[in-house]
Amino acid sequence: MVVVLLEDFERSLRLPSPLTELSDDRLGSVRVLMKRDDLIDPVLSGNKWRKLKYQLVDARSRGATTLLTFGGAYSNHVRAVAAAGRRFGFATIGMIRGEEQPFNDQLAAAVADGMRLHYLDRATYRAKTAPDVLDGLRQKFGDFYLVPEGGSAPLALRGCSEMIAEIQERFDLVVCPVGTGGTLAGLSAGLTGGQRALGFSVLRGAEYLDDEVAGIQVEAIGKRLDNWSINHRFHFGGFARRKSELDDFIAEFRDRHGIALDWVYVAKALYGLYACVEEGVVGSGATVVFVVTGPMTKQG
Ligand SMILES: Cc1ncc(COP(=O)(O)O)c(C=O)c1O
Repeated sequence: MVVVLLEDFERSLRLPSPLTELSDDRLGSVRVLMKRDDLIDPVLSGNKWRKLKYQLVDARSRGATTLLTFGGAYSNHVRAVAAAGRRFGFATIGMIRGEEQPFNDQLAAAVADGMRLHYLDRATYRAKTAPDVLDGLRQKFGDFYLVPEGGSAPLALRGCSEMIAEIQERFDLVVCPVGTGGTLAGLSAGLTGGQRALGFSVLRGAEYLDDEVAGIQVEAIGKRLDNWSINHRFHFGGFARRKSELDDFIAEFRDRHGIALDWVYVAKALYGLYACVEEGVVGSGATVVFVVTGPMTKQG
């Protein structure tokens, strides 16, 4: 196995990720700059590298040899942990929510990267951070470094806040999708002055995410910052669900910009931003950085 040093690997990434202006008359006088984190790396792209970087450093410094994480069967995060494990020489275990099922592309890629998969029934999955569940996993698998669901550990804040430090342009608001909250918590931690962070939840009925983001900040930096909020209106039915308004938005964006948006995360947040601009919630003349956390592919 070829094991790569984290520092050498980081030099191979496209960092700082590009910042490109979105030209679209629907945005009026709001200037939107796309922070193209999707271009960082083919697998450890989007928010994956940002969230995992310092957890990998920490795991290595503690002498850990195995990473264990949790996720749904379509989790980008599980796949990213498997890829990171292969590159940096950690064994990896993926605890997958629900019944065992035929591999989809994400799980097949994780297994190809050497990840061992195990399945947890939904009730146990919900209790996955309870000490007795973790003790049970340690008895079964031996010692491991725990990477939480979505990679949203307190150490994820540091990597995500580094993204803000890369931005040379003046801006008022940074926008991102929210799944488990680590990305938003970290972006908020990197802001200065009157800058704000706005996250769009891609889950339905996920008001608990406000507490999650606050909790990650308290654990990581000792306090909840008051420069962020989550908009819960644009989940389009829930995680990995879609509606025709969202599909129409994606089709129109593709027609105008020649770019196919990831519909699970990126398109929902971008739709939400356009709606907030139209409603005047994002004031005219504002400069917004929109963080592209998932694939945005050029068409044709
Ligand atoms: C592409 C993409 N965007 C956004 C998110 C949400 O980020 P977070 O879980 O930090 O809220 C995820 C999940 O990690 C993701 O895979």
